[in-house]
Amino acid sequence: MKKFKAAVIGVGFIGVAHIEALRRLGNVEVVAISDQVALKEKAEKYAIPNYYEDYKQMIDELDLDFIHICTPNNTHYPIAKYAIERNINVVLEKPMTVSVAEAKALVELAETKGVVAAINFHNRLYPACTYIKKEIEKGSYGDIFSMQGMYVQDWLFYQTDYSWRLLSKTSGKTRAVADIGSHWLDLVEYMTGHQITEVLAEFKTAYETRKKATKPLETFAKATADMTYDDIAIDTEDIAVVTFRTNKGALGNVYISQMVAGKKNSINVLLSGTKHSVTWHLEDLEHVLVGHRDEGNVIIPKDAQMMSEVKDQIDYPSGHIEGFPDAFKQAFKQIYHAAEDHTYTPLVAQFKDGLRMMILDEKIYESAKSRKWVKIDA
Ligand SMILES: NC(=O)c1ccc[n+]([C@@H]2O[C@H](COP(=O)([O-])OP(=O)(O)OC[C@H]3O[C@@H](n4cnc5c(N)ncnc54)[C@H](O)[C@@H]3O)[C@@H](O)[C@H]2O)c1
Repeated sequence: MKKFKAAVIGVGFIGVAHIEALRRLGNVEVVAISDQVALKEKAEKYAIPNYYEDYKQMIDELDLDFIHICTPNNTHYPIAKYAIERNINVVLEKPMTVSVAEAKALVELAETKGVVAAINFHNRLYPACTYIKKEIEKGSYGDIFSMQGMYVQDWLFYQTDYSWRLLSKTSGKTRAVADIGSHWLDLVEYMTGHQITEVLAEFKTAYETRKKATKPLETFAKATADMTYDDIAIDTEDIAVVTFRTNKGALGNVYISQMVAGKKNSINVLLSGTKHSVTWHLEDLEHVLVGHRDEGNVIIPKDAQMMSEVKDQIDYPSGHIEGFPDAFKQAFKQIYHAAEDHTYTPLVAQFKDGLRMMILDEKIYESAKSRKWVKIDA
Protein backbone atom coordinates (compact mmCIF):
# COMPACT_ATOMS: atom_id res chain seq x y z
CA MET A 1 0.00 0.00 0.00
CA LYS A 2 1.39 3.42 -0.96
CA LYS A 3 2.33 5.72 1.93
CA PHE A 4 1.15 9.33 1.78
CA LYS A 5 2.31 12.56 3.39
CA ALA A 6 -0.51 14.91 4.33
CA ALA A 7 -0.84 18.34 5.92
CA VAL A 8 -3.91 19.87 7.56
CA ILE A 9 -4.55 23.60 7.16
CA GLY A 10 -6.77 25.00 9.92
CA VAL A 11 -6.70 23.03 13.16
CA GLY A 12 -9.93 24.18 14.80
CA PHE A 13 -13.00 22.02 15.36
CA ILE A 14 -12.86 19.97 12.17
CA GLY A 15 -9.11 20.04 11.48
CA VAL A 16 -8.61 17.84 14.55
CA ALA A 17 -11.17 15.34 13.22
CA HIS A 18 -9.16 15.20 9.96
CA ILE A 19 -5.89 14.53 11.82
CA GLU A 20 -7.48 11.73 13.87
CA ALA A 21 -9.17 10.08 10.89
CA LEU A 22 -6.03 10.26 8.74
CA ARG A 23 -4.00 8.55 11.44
CA ARG A 24 -6.52 5.70 11.60
CA LEU A 25 -5.91 4.87 7.92
CA GLY A 26 -2.44 3.54 8.65
CA ASN A 27 -0.79 4.61 5.39
CA VAL A 28 -0.98 8.39 5.90
CA GLU A 29 1.48 10.44 7.90
CA VAL A 30 0.28 13.87 9.01
CA VAL A 31 3.62 15.61 8.56
CA ALA A 32 2.52 19.23 9.07
CA ILE A 33 -0.20 21.62 10.11
CA SER A 34 -0.81 25.27 9.34
CA ASP A 35 -2.80 27.61 11.58
CA GLN A 36 -2.76 31.18 12.79
CA VAL A 37 -3.78 30.61 16.41
CA ALA A 38 -1.86 28.64 19.08
CA LEU A 39 0.10 26.94 16.32
CA LYS A 40 3.01 25.55 18.34
CA GLU A 41 0.68 24.31 21.10
CA LYS A 42 -1.48 22.51 18.54
CA ALA A 43 1.56 20.91 16.87
CA GLU A 44 2.78 19.69 20.27
CA LYS A 45 -0.64 18.50 21.40
CA TYR A 46 -1.12 16.38 18.27
CA ALA A 47 2.59 15.47 17.90
CA ILE A 48 2.93 17.00 14.43
CA PRO A 49 6.60 17.42 13.43
CA ASN A 50 6.24 20.55 11.25
CA TYR A 51 4.07 23.61 11.72
CA TYR A 52 3.64 26.79 9.68
CA GLU A 53 1.73 30.00 10.06
CA ASP A 54 1.95 30.51 6.30
CA TYR A 55 0.42 27.62 4.33
CA LYS A 56 2.26 28.72 1.18
CA GLN A 57 5.60 28.27 2.88
CA MET A 58 4.49 24.85 4.10
CA ILE A 59 3.43 23.76 0.61
CA ASP A 60 6.66 25.13 -0.93
CA GLU A 61 9.02 23.56 1.61
CA LEU A 62 7.48 20.12 2.15
CA ASP A 63 6.96 17.28 -0.29
CA LEU A 64 3.22 16.78 0.30
CA ASP A 65 0.86 14.32 -1.42
CA PHE A 66 -2.33 15.78 0.09
CA ILE A 67 -3.55 18.85 1.90
CA HIS A 68 -6.77 18.99 3.89
CA ILE A 69 -8.33 22.45 3.99
CA CYS A 70 -10.23 23.00 7.26
CA THR A 71 -10.23 26.80 7.44
CA PRO A 72 -13.13 29.31 7.25
CA ASN A 73 -15.05 29.18 3.95
CA ASN A 74 -13.64 32.40 2.43
CA THR A 75 -10.09 30.98 2.52
CA HIS A 76 -10.92 27.70 0.72
CA TYR A 77 -10.45 29.05 -2.79
CA PRO A 78 -7.00 30.67 -2.50
CA ILE A 79 -5.58 27.76 -0.47
CA ALA A 80 -6.96 25.07 -2.81
CA LYS A 81 -5.79 27.01 -5.88
CA TYR A 82 -2.27 27.36 -4.51
CA ALA A 83 -2.02 23.64 -3.70
CA ILE A 84 -3.56 22.31 -6.92
CA GLU A 85 -1.34 24.56 -9.06
CA ARG A 86 1.54 22.68 -7.39
CA ASN A 87 -0.06 19.29 -8.25
CA ILE A 88 -1.08 18.45 -4.68
CA ASN A 89 -4.23 16.41 -4.06
CA VAL A 90 -6.84 18.27 -2.02
CA VAL A 91 -9.53 17.37 0.49
CA LEU A 92 -11.62 20.49 0.92
CA GLU A 93 -14.16 21.05 3.66
CA LYS A 94 -17.68 22.08 2.72
CA PRO A 95 -19.00 24.49 1.60
CA MET A 96 -16.55 24.36 -1.30
CA THR A 97 -16.05 28.14 -1.62
CA VAL A 98 -17.98 31.36 -1.07
CA SER A 99 -19.13 31.74 -4.69
CA VAL A 100 -20.08 29.70 -7.74
CA ALA A 101 -17.36 31.45 -9.77
CA GLU A 102 -14.64 30.30 -7.33
CA ALA A 103 -16.01 26.75 -7.28
CA LYS A 104 -16.12 26.58 -11.11
CA ALA A 105 -12.53 27.79 -11.33
CA LEU A 106 -11.39 25.08 -8.90
CA VAL A 107 -13.26 22.33 -10.79
CA GLU A 108 -11.50 23.39 -14.02
CA LEU A 109 -8.09 23.68 -12.37
CA ALA A 110 -8.36 20.25 -10.68
CA GLU A 111 -9.40 18.66 -14.00
CA THR A 112 -6.48 20.28 -15.84
CA LYS A 113 -3.99 19.14 -13.20
CA GLY A 114 -5.54 15.67 -12.77
CA VAL A 115 -5.32 15.76 -8.98
CA VAL A 116 -7.67 14.03 -6.55
CA ALA A 117 -10.08 16.77 -5.47
CA ALA A 118 -12.71 15.83 -2.89
CA ILE A 119 -15.25 17.68 -0.75
CA ASN A 120 -15.93 16.39 2.74
CA PHE A 121 -19.67 15.78 2.62
CA HIS A 122 -18.95 12.99 5.09
CA ASN A 123 -22.61 12.07 5.82
CA ARG A 124 -22.60 10.10 2.56
CA LEU A 125 -20.19 7.66 4.20
CA TYR A 126 -22.45 6.45 6.99
CA PRO A 127 -23.13 2.84 5.93
CA ALA A 128 -26.91 3.37 6.31
CA CYS A 129 -26.84 6.29 3.88
CA THR A 130 -25.02 4.42 1.14
CA TYR A 131 -27.26 1.41 1.83
CA ILE A 132 -30.35 3.58 1.14
CA LYS A 133 -28.69 4.87 -2.05
CA LYS A 134 -28.04 1.29 -3.30
CA GLU A 135 -31.58 0.16 -2.43
CA ILE A 136 -33.06 3.12 -4.30
CA GLU A 137 -30.85 2.27 -7.32
CA LYS A 138 -32.26 -1.30 -7.21
CA GLY A 139 -35.82 0.06 -7.07
CA SER A 140 -36.52 -1.49 -3.64
CA TYR A 141 -38.70 1.45 -2.50
CA GLY A 142 -40.21 2.17 -5.94
CA ASP A 143 -39.98 5.62 -7.50
CA ILE A 144 -39.23 8.31 -4.93
CA PHE A 145 -41.94 10.97 -5.22
CA SER A 146 -41.29 13.08 -2.13
CA MET A 147 -38.37 13.86 0.19
CA GLN A 148 -38.54 15.69 3.50
CA GLY A 149 -36.32 16.39 6.43
CA MET A 150 -34.33 18.75 8.52
CA TYR A 151 -30.87 19.61 9.68
CA VAL A 152 -31.03 21.42 13.03
CA GLN A 153 -28.52 22.43 15.70
CA ASP A 154 -28.53 24.77 18.71
CA TRP A 155 -24.96 26.10 18.98
CA LEU A 156 -26.05 29.57 17.72
CA PHE A 157 -29.13 29.68 19.97
CA TYR A 158 -28.09 32.61 22.19
CA GLN A 159 -27.41 36.16 21.02
CA THR A 160 -23.97 35.80 22.61
CA ASP A 161 -23.16 32.79 20.44
CA TYR A 162 -20.71 34.01 17.83
CA SER A 163 -18.61 32.58 15.00
CA TRP A 164 -16.96 33.66 11.74
CA ARG A 165 -19.83 31.72 10.12
CA LEU A 166 -22.31 34.51 11.00
CA LEU A 167 -20.90 37.00 8.48
CA SER A 168 -21.25 36.72 4.72
CA LYS A 169 -17.71 37.94 4.14
CA THR A 170 -16.34 34.77 5.78
CA SER A 171 -19.25 32.34 5.34
CA GLY A 172 -20.51 33.26 1.86
CA LYS A 173 -23.96 34.63 1.00
CA THR A 174 -25.78 32.07 3.15
CA ARG A 175 -24.85 30.65 6.53
CA ALA A 176 -27.25 27.95 7.81
CA VAL A 177 -27.82 26.78 4.24
CA ALA A 178 -24.10 26.69 3.34
CA ASP A 179 -23.00 25.31 6.70
CA ILE A 180 -25.49 22.50 7.33
CA GLY A 181 -28.18 22.74 4.63
CA SER A 182 -25.52 21.81 2.05
CA HIS A 183 -24.93 18.52 3.91
CA TRP A 184 -28.65 17.65 3.77
CA LEU A 185 -29.08 18.63 0.13
CA ASP A 186 -25.96 16.73 -0.95
CA LEU A 187 -27.05 13.69 1.06
CA VAL A 188 -30.54 13.58 -0.41
CA GLU A 189 -29.29 13.99 -4.00
CA TYR A 190 -26.69 11.28 -3.26
CA MET A 191 -29.24 8.85 -1.82
CA THR A 192 -31.98 9.37 -4.40
CA GLY A 193 -30.02 10.12 -7.60
CA HIS A 194 -32.47 13.00 -8.15
CA GLN A 195 -31.27 16.52 -8.94
CA ILE A 196 -33.06 19.53 -7.51
CA THR A 197 -34.25 21.68 -10.41
CA GLU A 198 -36.31 24.41 -8.69
CA VAL A 199 -36.32 25.98 -5.23
CA LEU A 200 -38.55 28.25 -3.14
CA ALA A 201 -36.87 29.46 0.04
CA GLU A 202 -37.69 31.61 3.07
CA PHE A 203 -35.00 32.83 5.48
CA LYS A 204 -35.22 34.20 9.00
CA THR A 205 -32.50 35.93 10.97
CA ALA A 206 -33.53 35.76 14.62
CA TYR A 207 -30.80 38.14 15.83
CA GLU A 208 -30.11 41.11 13.54
CA THR A 209 -27.13 41.86 15.79
CA ARG A 210 -25.09 39.44 17.87
CA LYS A 211 -22.79 40.01 20.80
CA LYS A 212 -19.25 39.06 19.94
CA ALA A 213 -17.01 38.33 22.91
CA THR A 214 -14.08 40.74 22.97
CA LYS A 215 -11.91 37.69 23.63
CA PRO A 216 -12.60 35.20 20.80
CA LEU A 217 -14.21 31.81 21.42
CA GLU A 218 -13.51 28.64 19.42
CA THR A 219 -16.39 26.99 17.50
CA PHE A 220 -18.92 25.42 19.95
CA ALA A 221 -17.24 27.00 23.05
CA LYS A 222 -19.67 28.51 25.64
CA ALA A 223 -19.84 32.12 26.88
CA THR A 224 -19.09 32.84 30.57
CA ALA A 225 -20.68 35.46 32.90
CA ASP A 226 -17.65 37.79 33.10
CA MET A 227 -17.29 38.26 29.34
CA THR A 228 -17.57 41.60 27.50
CA TYR A 229 -19.03 42.02 24.03
CA ASP A 230 -19.13 44.10 20.84
CA ASP A 231 -22.46 44.39 18.96
CA ILE A 232 -22.07 43.01 15.43
CA ALA A 233 -24.67 43.36 12.63
CA ILE A 234 -25.55 39.94 11.16
CA ASP A 235 -26.14 39.53 7.43
CA THR A 236 -26.81 35.78 7.19
CA GLU A 237 -29.80 33.59 8.04
CA ASP A 238 -30.28 31.61 11.26
CA ILE A 239 -33.17 29.61 9.81
CA ALA A 240 -34.12 28.51 6.29
CA VAL A 241 -37.09 26.62 4.90
CA VAL A 242 -36.55 25.34 1.37
CA THR A 243 -39.21 23.72 -0.80
CA PHE A 244 -38.00 22.09 -4.01
CA ARG A 245 -38.81 20.00 -7.05
CA THR A 246 -36.50 17.47 -8.69
CA ASN A 247 -35.70 16.37 -12.25
CA LYS A 248 -37.58 13.08 -11.62
CA GLY A 249 -40.75 14.83 -10.50
CA ALA A 250 -40.36 14.61 -6.71
CA LEU A 251 -41.50 17.32 -4.31
CA GLY A 252 -39.38 18.05 -1.26
CA ASN A 253 -38.77 20.39 1.63
CA VAL A 254 -36.14 20.87 4.31
CA TYR A 255 -35.98 22.87 7.54
CA ILE A 256 -32.52 24.17 8.40
CA SER A 257 -31.77 25.94 11.67
CA GLN A 258 -28.91 26.53 14.08
CA MET A 259 -31.30 27.76 16.78
CA VAL A 260 -33.35 24.73 17.91
CA ALA A 261 -32.71 24.34 21.66
CA GLY A 262 -31.57 20.86 22.52
CA LYS A 263 -30.89 19.76 18.97
CA LYS A 264 -27.11 19.42 18.89
CA ASN A 265 -26.63 18.02 15.42
CA SER A 266 -29.80 16.43 14.15
CA ILE A 267 -30.31 15.28 10.56
CA ASN A 268 -33.57 13.62 9.46
CA VAL A 269 -34.41 12.24 6.05
CA LEU A 270 -37.79 10.80 4.98
CA LEU A 271 -38.07 9.54 1.42
CA SER A 272 -41.44 8.36 0.10
CA GLY A 273 -41.45 5.83 -2.73
CA THR A 274 -44.22 4.14 -4.68
CA LYS A 275 -43.49 0.83 -2.87
CA HIS A 276 -42.17 1.93 0.55
CA SER A 277 -40.97 4.90 2.53
CA VAL A 278 -37.51 5.00 4.07
CA THR A 279 -36.36 7.02 7.07
CA TRP A 280 -32.89 7.80 8.42
CA HIS A 281 -31.91 9.92 11.46
CA LEU A 282 -28.36 10.90 12.40
CA GLU A 283 -29.31 10.45 16.07
CA ASP A 284 -29.94 6.74 15.36
CA LEU A 285 -27.46 6.52 12.53
CA GLU A 286 -27.02 2.76 12.41
CA HIS A 287 -30.66 1.99 11.56
CA VAL A 288 -32.74 2.33 8.41
CA LEU A 289 -36.53 2.21 8.83
CA VAL A 290 -38.42 0.87 5.83
CA GLY A 291 -42.11 1.78 5.98
CA HIS A 292 -44.77 -0.65 4.67
CA ARG A 293 -48.43 0.13 4.02
CA ASP A 294 -49.80 -3.40 4.52
CA GLU A 295 -47.29 -5.17 6.79
CA GLY A 296 -45.06 -4.40 9.73
CA ASN A 297 -42.34 -1.84 9.20
CA VAL A 298 -38.78 -3.16 9.04
CA ILE A 299 -35.70 -1.83 10.84
CA ILE A 300 -32.42 -2.74 9.19
CA PRO A 301 -29.32 -2.41 11.39
CA LYS A 302 -25.80 -1.55 10.29
CA ASP A 303 -24.46 -5.01 9.77
CA ALA A 304 -22.08 -6.27 7.08
CA GLN A 305 -24.51 -9.11 6.28
CA MET A 306 -27.74 -7.10 6.35
CA MET A 307 -26.10 -4.28 4.38
CA SER A 308 -23.78 -6.42 2.26
CA GLU A 309 -23.72 -3.89 -0.61
CA VAL A 310 -21.88 -1.45 1.66
CA LYS A 311 -19.66 -3.84 3.58
CA ASP A 312 -16.59 -1.87 2.38
CA GLN A 313 -17.82 1.02 4.56
CA ILE A 314 -18.27 -1.15 7.68
CA ASP A 315 -15.14 -1.85 9.74
CA TYR A 316 -16.70 -3.11 12.98
CA PRO A 317 -19.18 -5.91 13.75
CA SER A 318 -22.87 -5.31 14.27
CA GLY A 319 -23.59 -3.69 17.67
CA HIS A 320 -20.36 -1.67 17.60
CA ILE A 321 -21.44 1.83 16.62
CA GLU A 322 -19.62 3.58 13.78
CA GLY A 323 -20.34 7.32 13.92
CA PHE A 324 -18.97 10.76 13.06
CA PRO A 325 -15.20 10.01 13.24
CA ASP A 326 -15.78 6.77 11.34
CA ALA A 327 -17.53 8.56 8.47
CA PHE A 328 -14.41 10.74 8.11
CA LYS A 329 -12.21 7.66 8.14
CA GLN A 330 -14.35 5.96 5.47
CA ALA A 331 -14.36 9.10 3.31
CA PHE A 332 -10.57 9.49 3.53
CA LYS A 333 -10.06 5.75 2.89
CA GLN A 334 -11.85 6.16 -0.44
CA ILE A 335 -10.10 9.42 -1.31
CA TYR A 336 -6.60 8.05 -0.71
CA HIS A 337 -7.50 4.83 -2.54
CA ALA A 338 -8.45 6.99 -5.54
CA ALA A 339 -4.99 8.62 -5.41
CA GLU A 340 -3.38 5.18 -5.63
CA ASP A 341 -5.72 3.57 -8.16
CA HIS A 342 -6.98 5.94 -10.85
CA THR A 343 -9.51 3.34 -12.07
CA TYR A 344 -11.30 3.42 -8.70
CA THR A 345 -14.44 5.57 -8.49
CA PRO A 346 -15.08 6.69 -4.90
CA LEU A 347 -18.55 7.53 -3.57
CA VAL A 348 -17.23 10.60 -1.77
CA ALA A 349 -18.20 14.02 -3.11
CA GLN A 350 -15.92 15.42 -5.80
CA PHE A 351 -15.29 19.08 -6.65
CA LYS A 352 -18.11 18.92 -9.23
CA ASP A 353 -20.48 17.94 -6.38
CA GLY A 354 -19.15 20.83 -4.29
CA LEU A 355 -19.84 23.15 -7.24
CA ARG A 356 -23.37 21.76 -7.53
CA MET A 357 -24.04 22.59 -3.86
CA MET A 358 -22.65 26.11 -4.42
CA ILE A 359 -25.08 26.56 -7.34
CA LEU A 360 -27.99 25.34 -5.18
CA ASP A 361 -26.84 27.65 -2.38
CA GLU A 362 -26.83 30.66 -4.71
CA LYS A 363 -30.28 29.80 -6.12
CA ILE A 364 -31.71 29.29 -2.62
CA TYR A 365 -30.34 32.71 -1.64
CA GLU A 366 -31.84 34.24 -4.80
CA SER A 367 -35.23 32.68 -4.04
CA ALA A 368 -35.22 33.86 -0.41
CA LYS A 369 -34.41 37.41 -1.53
CA SER A 370 -36.95 37.51 -4.39
CA ARG A 371 -39.51 35.31 -2.54
CA LYS A 372 -40.07 33.46 -5.83
CA TRP A 373 -39.40 29.99 -7.24
CA VAL A 374 -35.96 29.92 -8.89
CA LYS A 375 -34.91 27.32 -11.48
CA ILE A 376 -31.57 25.54 -11.49
CA ASP A 377 -30.02 24.67 -14.84
CA ALA A 378 -28.99 21.01 -15.06
N1 LIG B 1 -17.76 18.18 7.38
C1 LIG B 1 -18.28 18.70 8.48
O1 LIG B 1 -19.18 18.14 9.08
C2 LIG B 1 -17.77 20.00 9.01
C3 LIG B 1 -17.96 20.30 10.37
C4 LIG B 1 -17.44 21.51 10.86
C5 LIG B 1 -16.82 22.39 10.00
N2 LIG B 1 -16.70 22.09 8.67
C6 LIG B 1 -16.06 23.04 7.76
O2 LIG B 1 -14.68 23.13 8.11
C7 LIG B 1 -14.21 24.46 7.98
C8 LIG B 1 -13.63 24.92 9.32
O3 LIG B 1 -14.66 24.89 10.30
P1 LIG B 1 -14.32 24.77 11.88
O4 LIG B 1 -15.61 24.58 12.57
O5 LIG B 1 -13.25 23.78 12.08
O6 LIG B 1 -13.80 26.25 12.15
P2 LIG B 1 -12.87 26.73 13.35
O7 LIG B 1 -13.09 28.20 13.44
O8 LIG B 1 -13.11 25.89 14.57
O9 LIG B 1 -11.39 26.42 12.85
C9 LIG B 1 -10.80 27.08 11.75
C10 LIG B 1 -9.29 27.10 11.97
O10 LIG B 1 -8.66 27.65 10.81
C11 LIG B 1 -7.62 28.54 11.24
N3 LIG B 1 -7.32 29.47 10.14
C12 LIG B 1 -8.07 30.52 9.72
N4 LIG B 1 -7.49 31.09 8.63
C13 LIG B 1 -6.37 30.37 8.37
C14 LIG B 1 -5.35 30.46 7.38
N5 LIG B 1 -5.37 31.40 6.43
N6 LIG B 1 -4.32 29.58 7.42
C15 LIG B 1 -4.27 28.60 8.37
N7 LIG B 1 -5.21 28.48 9.34
C16 LIG B 1 -6.25 29.34 9.33
C17 LIG B 1 -8.16 29.17 12.51
O11 LIG B 1 -7.13 29.71 13.30
C18 LIG B 1 -8.86 27.98 13.16
O12 LIG B 1 -7.99 27.25 14.00
C19 LIG B 1 -15.40 25.30 7.49
O13 LIG B 1 -15.36 25.43 6.10
C20 LIG B 1 -16.60 24.46 7.91
O14 LIG B 1 -17.74 24.65 7.09
C21 LIG B 1 -17.15 20.91 8.19
